[in-house]
Amino acid sequence: MIIEKTIEFVKQKLQGAEAGHDWFHIERVYKNAVQIAQGSNDINILVIELGALLHDIADSKFHNGDESVGPKIAREFLENNLVDENVIQEVVNIIENISFKNTKDNTITYTSKELQIVQDADRLDAIGAIGIARAFNYGGFKNRELYNPEVSPNLNMSKEEYKNSNAPTLNHFYEKLLLLKDKMNTQKGKELAEERHRFMEHFLQQFYKEWNAEL
Ligand code: ADP
Ligand code: NI
Repeated sequence: MIIEKTIEFVKQKLQGAEAGHDWFHIERVYKNAVQIAQGSNDINILVIELGALLHDIADSKFHNGDESVGPKIAREFLENNLVDENVIQEVVNIIENISFKNTKDNTITYTSKELQIVQDADRLDAIGAIGIARAFNYGGFKNRELYNPEVSPNLNMSKEEYKNSNAPTLNHFYEKLLLLKDKMNTQKGKELAEERHRFMEHFLQQFYKEWNAEL
């Protein structure tokens, strides 16, 4: 029942969201998370499901960089629905710690099996064919160039630089998307990342070939 209610809440909150962070992103992450969770023991599946459904309820990118909005909205919703405080706290911890940019600057202090699973599920949706589609949609949303041979990727950005970057979308592959395969937390996540990773490498090869008229 709480899952159905959460789905309705998230769908309504994300109406009109940028296409890479809309309800369908949440639905894919939710399905990935449930799939990864199968076969793991000692996990709280309710925390995983709620964490996946609520992880982008108010992404800081779309709230002037404010990282406190998402956790606050999620907590209020769960409290109003009388969810157990322990579960609420774990879900809020997931929302606060899932983001790639927070793995920069080494500020991570919290971890749990549930966070690791939801994070893998979110990372899978950032790579492969869907990852490519999402990256270019986000770049278009920000009016960025597709590619610019004169702007090299920056692999040592701080969290601040990463957030403020205006680099071409192709740089994002080197700054984040191609790095995700080796950052997967779970064995299942690693396996699922392989094919998606290869697909991105193939896409990039083809992209440069066409860019340089080498066909
Ligand atoms: P996280 O929320 O995990 O910290 P981001 O918000 O940076 O990571 O990225 C979420 C998704 O948004 C990315 O997987 C990508 O699809 C898109 N995105 C974010 N930043 C960029 C960017 N600079 N260029 C292209 N896509 C981006
Ligand atoms: Ni997400």
